[in-house]
Amino acid sequence: MKRREPATVLVYYPEASEAKAYAAAVRARRGHIRLAVCATPAEARSAVADAEVIYAWKFPPELYAAATRLSWLQVMGAGVDSALVPTLPKDVIVTRIPGIFGPWMREYVLGWCLSITQRTETYRSAQRERRWRQDIPPERLAGKTMTIVGLGDIGRAIAAGAHALGLRVLGVSRSGRAVRGVERVFRLPQLARALGEADFVVVVVPLTDATRGLLGARALAAMKPTAWLFNIARGAVVDEAALIDALRARRIGGAVLDVFTTEPLPADHPLWTLDNVVVTPHISGPSTPAEITPVFNDNLARWLAGRPLRHVVDRARGY
Ligand code: OXD
Repeated sequence: MKRREPATVLVYYPEASEAKAYAAAVRARRGHIRLAVCATPAEARSAVADAEVIYAWKFPPELYAAATRLSWLQVMGAGVDSALVPTLPKDVIVTRIPGIFGPWMREYVLGWCLSITQRTETYRSAQRERRWRQDIPPERLAGKTMTIVGLGDIGRAIAAGAHALGLRVLGVSRSGRAVRGVERVFRLPQLARALGEADFVVVVVPLTDATRGLLGARALAAMKPTAWLFNIARGAVVDEAALIDALRARRIGGAVLDVFTTEPLPADHPLWTLDNVVVTPHISGPSTPAEITPVFNDNLARWLAGRPLRHVVDRARGY
């Protein structure tokens, strides 16, 4: 495709130095693109009507309606739910970033699993009190069972790492298709059975109409009283009120939570204070310009050449 004028690529990140860093990593043949770098909704509002491509994290959804020239939206994060809104014109292609977040999230999950079995908190607090807690031995992680709910590229990366550490790995997916390193993959209707076997449940499904509230009171009741729930997907996939009830009543061992229905987690939220909860600030799969932008650049070259894009989201399915 021969273009007569440079295409406007709108780079949006709601923090100015990050927006600049993402823009600085964008590569295209000289004269083929013009960058509009925006860090606030007001800046984006004045650039959006020209944009043919948007490369963004948390682009203000109300502005899509004015994006009349937009043909492609590249989401910077792992999840695309915030982009799949009714205001986004139907013919806009949405692409995701595969392959980057899995290795990060695998280390997050396995790091916290090891912290639990190695009882790091117990020994560190005993150290502060100069107490010799030989009465509380660590546990082996190898041999425990991890159930991973969602076996996309991130779930599969976690499964491979868990399997390598000697965990027994079970999975839950829509298709039930076999996955390397996963002993058995259950379909969604068998969720409770898969949860009931786990010492660690890792939730890593995209947020869609089908997964909203997937881990509700019934699912939580299927877990062992010693099992830990990890949510690295979206807050709304787990029924937060039901989870708090289960944690308070110690019907499950605990939870490691990186995502919440409201972020940042409000200061008066009960999850901050429960002693069987680990709260982290949505950092399990960080986006960095150096890791993410090469994926975007590869697609940008394709888009400028009129070739099909890679990693296209099925908008009807929601991921
Ligand atoms: C996300 C991310 O999509 O952190 O949540 O990348």
